[in-house]
Amino acid sequence: MVEDNSIRFLLNGQIVCVTPDDPHMSLLQYIREQAALCGTKEGCAEGDCGACTLVVGKIIDGEIKYRALNACILLLAQIHGCEVITVEGLQGEDGALHPVQQALVEFHGSQCGFCTPGFVMSLYAHYRNQLPNDRQSLKIALAGNLCRCTGYGPIIAAGQAMYGYPKPVEPDSLKILQTITGTPQQDERLFAPTTETDLQELLQKYPDAVLWAGGTDAGLWLSKHLQDISSIILLGNIPELDFIRDDESGLHIGATIRYADVIELCADKWPAMGEVMRRIGSTQIRNSGTIGGNIANGSPIGDMAPMLITMDARLNLASAEGIREILLENYFLEYGKQDLRPGEYIHSIFIPKPARDIIFHAWKISKRFDQDISAVLGAFSYERKKGRINNLRIAYGGMAAIPRRAFLAEQALEGTCADDTSIAQACQALIRDFTPLDDMRASAKYREQVAKALLNKAFQDNPVSLATDKYQYE
Ligand SMILES: Cc1cc2nc3c(=O)[nH]c(=O)nc-3n(C[C@H](O)[C@H](O)[C@H](O)COP(=O)(O)OP(=O)(O)OC[C@H]3O[C@@H](n4cnc5c(N)ncnc54)[C@H](O)[C@@H]3O)c2cc1C
Ligand code: FES
Ligand code: FES
Repeated sequence: MVEDNSIRFLLNGQIVCVTPDDPHMSLLQYIREQAALCGTKEGCAEGDCGACTLVVGKIIDGEIKYRALNACILLLAQIHGCEVITVEGLQGEDGALHPVQQALVEFHGSQCGFCTPGFVMSLYAHYRNQLPNDRQSLKIALAGNLCRCTGYGPIIAAGQAMYGYPKPVEPDSLKILQTITGTPQQDERLFAPTTETDLQELLQKYPDAVLWAGGTDAGLWLSKHLQDISSIILLGNIPELDFIRDDESGLHIGATIRYADVIELCADKWPAMGEVMRRIGSTQIRNSGTIGGNIANGSPIGDMAPMLITMDARLNLASAEGIREILLENYFLEYGKQDLRPGEYIHSIFIPKPARDIIFHAWKISKRFDQDISAVLGAFSYERKKGRINNLRIAYGGMAAIPRRAFLAEQALEGTCADDTSIAQACQALIRDFTPLDDMRASAKYREQVAKALLNKAFQDNPVSLATDKYQYE
């Protein structure tokens, strides 16, 4: 299986082969400190500012898919077998600027320039994938890039103009990438299993090893908290965890499926869920972060859990003993404690096909529209038959130490016509259901008020969408 223990990838057209002293080195550390490609910047070191954005190409279904990623929270080992393009790799041999660079110059999209390589690379990913360059699409592409001095108007104008320049010939790297085989193994500190059986054996041998899916949570333990992690097991090379199956029974999502892989499908089925997913982190975060990781971290403010709980989702937990299926709502035991036994990992998430008439709403409330963690997330699913509410499920994030259902509020509304009196009673019940968090994101009082407001909104006949794009960058 393993032909060579090194990390091998294509960097701006050249094959690179590295065996780093520190197997937990980030891609950004390698790019800046060893490859001396200092165009890629380090700002926040936590996936927030986009200064470290570069583009990574990976073979998927026989072709290379290019995505913008944050190098600061990406392990070097995660890009084994991939193509990495940094801002230095964009200029043609004759020194000609790439259209996205040329457009940024001509539209005055840079002042101090610190953020500019990140913007270039986010726009380049957009360009490379030939995605629409209307304002809204560009805003979504650039929401993970912060600029303090230029202002977004000229940057968006550059994005709108970028397809108007002569198209450069992009090198075809597929054949070269196909020659990179095996996966890196670095002492006992980093493992990259390629089958579930290997993963299960590793978990038995190294029970304290950290499982690493996208690394958008775990990456910060290294980049910000400077933790000394003994062993890391990468999950990204295991095909059995990398699947989406949409069948008669429902939607099955493998643990390493990233938001970007499934967002369109979810948005098609459940627009409210699609809209919340679109606001998880940024394009870079959604290109890396997984739904499995979002659930596994057990955060009380993770966005997926409340929505999936109202959809009656199940978790398949796997180990050498086999698969154990549990209701997602039973996975979260208390703050920082989940129902995950030694040797187990999340294999997949199953969302049963909802009844035909089910109504589903979810709203994320945060201080910023994009790239922000929820203060409160409310999710609601119910049927309305002959005016009465049935099969009601309500779940919130940010209202307790774990994401969980509002059982008393559900009881207050189930079977009623959701008239003003019943809704008022349900709002009263919400106070007994939860003791909201009180922290820098929001006060307990605010959270309580928002939770009640969302509950009201969920039972209006035609709830007004919070998803409308009212915000402007300029
Ligand atoms: C800038 C930024 C913005 C963010 N915005 C949001 C947001 O808006 N909403 C939100 O909910 N989250 C947000 N996050 C958090 C994070 O992106 C998500 O929680 C993401 O889904 C984590 O997935 P991952 O694959 O990156 O997990 P990882 O970082 O790889 O892992 C997270 C945890 O889960 C464990 N784990 C991963 N996979 C498995 C598995 N299969 N079985 C068992 N354990 C596993 C890991 O050991 C680790 O403890 C943000 C993070 C950043 C850095
Ligand atoms: S340095 Fe800010 S996102 Fe990486
Ligand atoms: S140009 Fe200065 S931060 Fe963007």
